[in-house]
Amino acid sequence: MQKLKWLPLVLLLAISIAAVAQPAGQSAEAAKMKAFIDKLMKQMTLEEKLGQLNLPGAGDITTGQAANTDIARKIREGRVGGLFNIKGVEKIREVQRLAVEQSRLKIPLIFGMDVIHGYQTVFPIPLGLSASWDMKAVERSAQIAAQEASADGISWTFSPMVDIARDPRWGRMAEGSGEDPYLGGQIAKAMVRGYQGKDLKANNTILSCVKHYALYGAAEAGRDYGTTDMSRHRMYNEYFYPYKAAVEAGVGSVMASFNEVDGVPATANKWLMTDVLRKQWGFGGFVVTDYTGINEMIDHGIGDLPTVSARALQAGIDMDMVGEGMVTTLAKSLKEGKVTVAQIDAACRRILEAKYKLGLFEDPYRYCDVTRPANEVYTAAHRKEARSIAAQSFVLLKNEGNILPLKRGGKIALVGPLADNRENMPGTWAVAADFAKAVSVLQGLKEVAGSGTEIIYAKGSNLDEDAKFEERAGMFGKDLRRDSRPADQIIAEAVAAARQADVVVAAVGESAEMTGESSSMSHLELRPAQKELLKALKATGKPLVIVLFAGRSMTIAEEAKAYPAILNVWFPGSEAGYAIADALFGDVNPSGKLSTTWPQNVGQVPLFYNHKNTGRPLAEGQWFQKFRSNYLDVSNEPLYPFGYGLSYTSFAYSAPVASATKLTGNQALTVSVNVTNTGKYAGKEVVQLYIRDVVGSTTRPVKELKGFEKIELQPGETKTVKFQITPEDLKFYNYDLKYDWEAGDFDIMIGGNSRDVQKLRVNWQK
Ligand code: BGC
Repeated sequence: MQKLKWLPLVLLLAISIAAVAQPAGQSAEAAKMKAFIDKLMKQMTLEEKLGQLNLPGAGDITTGQAANTDIARKIREGRVGGLFNIKGVEKIREVQRLAVEQSRLKIPLIFGMDVIHGYQTVFPIPLGLSASWDMKAVERSAQIAAQEASADGISWTFSPMVDIARDPRWGRMAEGSGEDPYLGGQIAKAMVRGYQGKDLKANNTILSCVKHYALYGAAEAGRDYGTTDMSRHRMYNEYFYPYKAAVEAGVGSVMASFNEVDGVPATANKWLMTDVLRKQWGFGGFVVTDYTGINEMIDHGIGDLPTVSARALQAGIDMDMVGEGMVTTLAKSLKEGKVTVAQIDAACRRILEAKYKLGLFEDPYRYCDVTRPANEVYTAAHRKEARSIAAQSFVLLKNEGNILPLKRGGKIALVGPLADNRENMPGTWAVAADFAKAVSVLQGLKEVAGSGTEIIYAKGSNLDEDAKFEERAGMFGKDLRRDSRPADQIIAEAVAAARQADVVVAAVGESAEMTGESSSMSHLELRPAQKELLKALKATGKPLVIVLFAGRSMTIAEEAKAYPAILNVWFPGSEAGYAIADALFGDVNPSGKLSTTWPQNVGQVPLFYNHKNTGRPLAEGQWFQKFRSNYLDVSNEPLYPFGYGLSYTSFAYSAPVASATKLTGNQALTVSVNVTNTGKYAGKEVVQLYIRDVVGSTTRPVKELKGFEKIELQPGETKTVKFQITPEDLKFYNYDLKYDWEAGDFDIMIGGNSRDVQKLRVNWQK
C-alpha cells in the first residue's frame, strides 16, 4: 500500500529526470538524425560502410589535379570516410566534390588536421598556454583556431592533447597541459568549448578530438611510443581525469593512443574503449586510431593485419587513420565470423553521425567557402590576441635585482641561436604556420623598443656543436641556420657586442623540434655550446637576461644559480618576438605559472608535486636522512615547483580563513584569502588552492590542486579570493574504484605556487 502510494511520484520523477537528460528539442533532433542515418545505411553496401571507417592521409594532392589521384578513385568508389593533412580550401572543395558528386551515395568527407595551438595565427605551444592558467585565453585561442581552420576547409581537429606528463624526457610534454589532472581537465574543457562552440553546425566551429586515450604520457623512461604500465587506481585518480573532462564537455571524437594499457595496445583495448569510455563515461562520439595505430599492433606482437583490424573494431574503434587495415580486411573477417555486422554498423553510424552533426549532409561545402580565408585567416585582430595571450604564458623564473623590465633607450646586445630565427618561434605542431611571417626576437625587440634603443645582434653560438644533432633538432623546415665558423669565433663576436651594450639578452634553449613527437631527450640541460656562450657573456660583467625557449621542464640549476634573470617563453607562436619584447620592456607584466615541476637534475625524474608521502618521508626542511626516502647526491626539492612563477611586482597573502573548521555532510566550506599587490607594477597573480586528504582508506597525495583564480591587482590593491569547497572536491576512487569521499581531516592550502602555501585544517564528517 505504502509503496503504491509513491508510485505515481516515482514515475513522475523518472519522467522528469529523463526530460532533463535529454531536452525535448534535442531528442527530436536525435530522432531525426537516427531516421536519416537509418535510411542512408539501408542503401549502403558492406564496402561502402567500411569506406566510412577509412581515414587515409591525403598524399600530394595538387589543386586542379585531385581527380587524377589514387585517393580520388577510392573516394569515387565510396572507400574513404575522411581525409587528413590536406590544406587549402580550394583543394578541399575539389576533393569534397569528388565525394558528393561522383560517389554512388554522395556521402561527404570529413577533413581533419592537427590544429594544435592555432592555425596560421599560432598561439603558444599547449604547455605554454597551460602556464597562462587563464581559461578564457585558452578557450579563445581554440575559438580562433577553429575559425581560421574552418575558413580554410577543415572541419575536424586532432586536439586537445590532454595526456598527463610527468617525465620531461618525453618530448610530447610540449603538446599537453603538464602534470596536473585538475588543471589539465579545466583546459581540456576550455579547448573543447573553444573548438566546438555552442553550435557544431556553424561554419566557424569544428569537431574536436581529445587525445591520446590513454596514458600516452606515461611511457617508460620518457621514450616516445614506449610501454606504459600502471595501476587502475592511478589511472582513475590521476591520468583519466582530463580525458573524462573532455568527454563531459561534449568532445565529438577521441583518438586512441599508440601505447599499450594493461598489456593490450589501447587500439585493441576493449576495456578502455568500450567499458570505460562508452559505458562508464557515456561517450557518444567516434573513436579514431592514431596514425597507423592498427598496423603497429603487428609490431606490438598481437597478430597480423586482419587480426589486429578485427580486434580494433571489437574494442570499439570506429575509424582507421592511414593504415587501411579495416577497409582491406574486415569484409573477409566478417565472412569468417570474426567480426559482426552489428560492430561494423555501429562504427559506420558513429562516423555518419559526426558528419550529420557538423551539418555536412545539409551542405557538404559548409567549410569550403573560398572567400573566407582572405578575411578570416591570420587577421590583424587574431594576431593581436595571439600576441597578448603569448605574453600571458611566459613564466618569469628569476629576476634578481629587478634587472627586468628593461628600460628603453641605450644599447641592448641580443645574442643566441634563437635570437634571429623565425622558423622555430611557432614551436612544434604548427602545420599551417607560415614560418617566414613568424616574428623573430630580433624583429620584435627592434620594433617594440622604438628608435631610441639600439639593438646589436650577434648569433653567439649554434644550437649545438654537433651538426648531426642540430639536423635532427631542425626538421620540418625549422631551419637553425647553422653558422659554419669555429665556435670561439662565433662567441667572440657576441662578447664584442655585449661589451658595447648596457644589457645583454640571450635567446637560448631548445629548438622547436627538440620537443613534440619522437623528440625524447635524455639530457634536459642547455646544450654545451649555449652554456659556453653564457659563461663568456657573464665574464663581460654586463647584466644578463636569459630568454629561455623550452618545450618541457628543463634542468637549468646551473643557470638559475649563475645568472640574474630568466624569462621562460616556451614557444610563443607566430607573434613570438612582439610578445617577448612586450614582456621584456614591461609593457606586459609576466604572470605565467609552471604547469609542470622543474627538477634539479634528470635523475629526479619523474618529479611531480602531487606525489604520495611514502612510509619514510623526509622530515620537513631536511636535505638527507639515512633510511628515509631521498637521494645521497641531490635533495628531493625541485628547482622550481609546480605553480611557480614570478612577476615584476610582488604579492602578499594573508592567512587563509575558513568559514568553519568542523563540517558535516553536503555543507559547503568557504576559504578566503586576501592578496595584496605590494610592488610597483600592476600585475596578475594565480591564487592556487590545494587540498590534502590526511587519512584515507588508500594512500592519498600530499596535496592536490582543487581550484585556482587568476586575479589582477593594481599597486597597493587588495582583493579577497574565495574558494568554495564541497564534498564533491574531496572525492576519489577507492581501492574498489568507487568514487566517493571519506570523512576525516583535510588540510586546505592556499598560495602562489604548490610549495609556498599557508595551511589550515578542517574536519569533515558524513
Ligand atoms: C600523432 C597524433 C597526430 C597524428 C596525425 C600522430 O603521429 O601521434 O598526435 O594527431 O599523428 O597527424
